[in-house]
Amino acid sequence: MKKLQLKVPASTANLGVGFDSIGMALDKYLEVEASVSVDQQWHFEHIGPHLTGLPEDETHYITQIAQQAANKFNQKVPPLRLKMYSDIPLARGLGSSASALVTGLFLANHFANLKLSKYELLQLATEIEGHPDNVAPTIYGGLVLGVYDPEENQTDVSYIDIPKVDVIATIPSYELSTEKARKVLPENLALKDAVKYSAISNTMISALIQHNYELAGKMMMKDGFHEPYRQYLIPDFEDIKTIALEHGAYATVISGAGPTVLTLIKKELSGKLVRTLQEKFKDCESELVTINRFGVKQTTINL
Ligand code: HSE
Repeated sequence: MKKLQLKVPASTANLGVGFDSIGMALDKYLEVEASVSVDQQWHFEHIGPHLTGLPEDETHYITQIAQQAANKFNQKVPPLRLKMYSDIPLARGLGSSASALVTGLFLANHFANLKLSKYELLQLATEIEGHPDNVAPTIYGGLVLGVYDPEENQTDVSYIDIPKVDVIATIPSYELSTEKARKVLPENLALKDAVKYSAISNTMISALIQHNYELAGKMMMKDGFHEPYRQYLIPDFEDIKTIALEHGAYATVISGAGPTVLTLIKKELSGKLVRTLQEKFKDCESELVTINRFGVKQTTINL
């Protein structure tokens, strides 16, 4: 059987007030080369610093996901030999687990010959993940808005143009698990607060559609769904935000569940800010990241 190559992008979720529903694909990748294993065993070869310590056999998360997807259709994925490289740091709020999940689903689709469309793969991904904000942009690319309805087990998504801004990710050296970052959130929100924050979110989206980044940024930073509770888990967050705003940024928000801090800024101003952030926050890696427009890239090789 042919070799499969996958290039699966990272993503940033939430954009402030779009908690669990808005995400954007980023130009960092989990790259995978897979072929059917001749010895009938699963083998993972991990290349690069971000995958060290992960299992190298069938206990790997990607195997579990691939088999889970195939089982749903009464199929099996044959044991595979995989070579993987990633420049998506783990547990930093850049969608590394969503990229692994999507990888497992695409492997199942190819090697168990499921013939699922991207829409159907998204349904599976969201059913496992519980929300579409990372998996949808990872699959489709660009800026995707979505909602998962667990009662109907249905995910609907919508797209808007990617913002014409530069994006800076300030990535701390420490990890923050999504589980821990979700534990600090309240169980419930009063109706008046839900109305307020959904109004802010609606306005943010409308402003993004109109390319009014000043207003979009202002709205992003008025989130009340998660940031007020999570910012204390990221000691540098307030200082990064203050410096970014002093440098003319449109917005600085927590990327996904954190601890990466995401800044949207005018293209003319981004270079100076990224250098300043790198200089001032030496324990973090500050970098300009491009928005990925196309989502998972899949190639089969006949050799
Ligand atoms: N929307 C999710 C969160 C992203 O902020 O917890 C991480 O799964």
